[in-house]
Amino acid sequence: MKIMVIGGGGREHAIIKKIKENPLAEKIYALPGNGGIASDAECIEISATDLDAIVQFAKDNSIDYAIVAPDDPLVLGLVDMLEGESIPCFGPSRVAAIIEGSKAFSKELMKAYGIPTAEYEIFDDADDAYEYVKNCNIPVVIKADGLALGKGVIIAESRDDARDAIKSIMEDKAFGKSGDTIVIEEFLEGPEVSVLAFTDGNALVPMVSSMDHKRANDEDRGLNTGGMGTIAPNPYYTEEVAEICKEEIFLPTMIAMNREGRRFKGCLYFGLMITKNGPKVIEYNCRFGDPETQVVLPLLKTDLLDIMMAVTNEELEDLDVEFEDKYACCVIMASGGYPEKYEKGYPITFDSSIVSDDRGIFIAGAKREDDGTLITNGGRVLGVTETADTLKEAIEKAYRSIAKIHFDKAHYRKDIGKKALEATNGI
Ligand code: AMP
Ligand code: GLY
Repeated sequence: MKIMVIGGGGREHAIIKKIKENPLAEKIYALPGNGGIASDAECIEISATDLDAIVQFAKDNSIDYAIVAPDDPLVLGLVDMLEGESIPCFGPSRVAAIIEGSKAFSKELMKAYGIPTAEYEIFDDADDAYEYVKNCNIPVVIKADGLALGKGVIIAESRDDARDAIKSIMEDKAFGKSGDTIVIEEFLEGPEVSVLAFTDGNALVPMVSSMDHKRANDEDRGLNTGGMGTIAPNPYYTEEVAEICKEEIFLPTMIAMNREGRRFKGCLYFGLMITKNGPKVIEYNCRFGDPETQVVLPLLKTDLLDIMMAVTNEELEDLDVEFEDKYACCVIMASGGYPEKYEKGYPITFDSSIVSDDRGIFIAGAKREDDGTLITNGGRVLGVTETADTLKEAIEKAYRSIAKIHFDKAHYRKDIGKKALEATNGI
């Protein structure tokens, strides 16, 4: 089979390394991929949002199967376009991807179907929004409706901050048209859990849970980033919480999407907060999370490509999806300064002991020079995942591995998994 994977980050590298394990995957292309992915797939310089060029490439190269990983091409309808050319895909259609593409849509869906989430109001007029924040509870959360590279959520600690957020999103258009509409919602408290689930609209299989670390610096300080590290499973996601989530959130969401004529096929991501009133949905994503994927897939025992094709063929119900009874930790190494200004172009070097086993190294922002040197080329440069029988051991192994990778001005958090470890009494 000739397989095409759309995207070029650490998440896509983790997906590609996993599908390579299936002998059916004779040839894998990554569009655009990156300098690290180039060791595992043929990278083609076509951007993930150049939909016409992607479809043309797929036709010219007789692609048998496409995996669309990032949010933008899914929300723009790449899966519909490829299926229109009879190319089977893993990923939701445009009408289903709206569950991530519009926060107003997802909030209305949850309200209509009684799925627990924060209380909210939707505004498409800035004056009405200013009026609302004069009296609402503080802190309050202000969200741009559309995609905003993970930056469209502002937690306002004062009324002034709330007004600034409304101005920035709706009037100054910090996120372009994504801010024409905003959601203003209740501030929730509690530990956060990410759960990715395979679903074909008939069956829904939650994967092992995980915990992201979004802030740039230790002790959850600094700016929000795309994610500085992850651990799995998440200790706050107990069996009891999992049962509630399945009954009150996961299955009702799948059924709601079916009823709305928006059958969701692919990986549905539930961003959850375990509040004192039970688990609530913070956000849905229509795709694998990054860097959640980098800890979830290394624990997956069942063949990933088999699962993906079962989703595409609506046969997920017939498959037993199994995970290892182990722990995983992924530490992200970023360019100094990220998520603000940072420099690129520094050579990345690996100690020989880590080169011999690079299964857990997932490259995100790097490119390969003509002489073969790998150089930094983005904010989040790479991630290292290690697995072990205990969380403590997985964390220690990940930090031992990251110490074997070097580039100038590298920055990584030193406390990935610390909170989770405290929650499990250090085991
Ligand atoms: P999102 O992009 O929707 O995942 O939001 C980014 C982050 O903002 C989440 O991971 C939460 O930490 C935080 N957040 C979003 N919504 C709320 C909320 N209603 N209450 C508290 N924190 C929130
Ligand atoms: N790690 C959060 C996301 O992928 O949206």
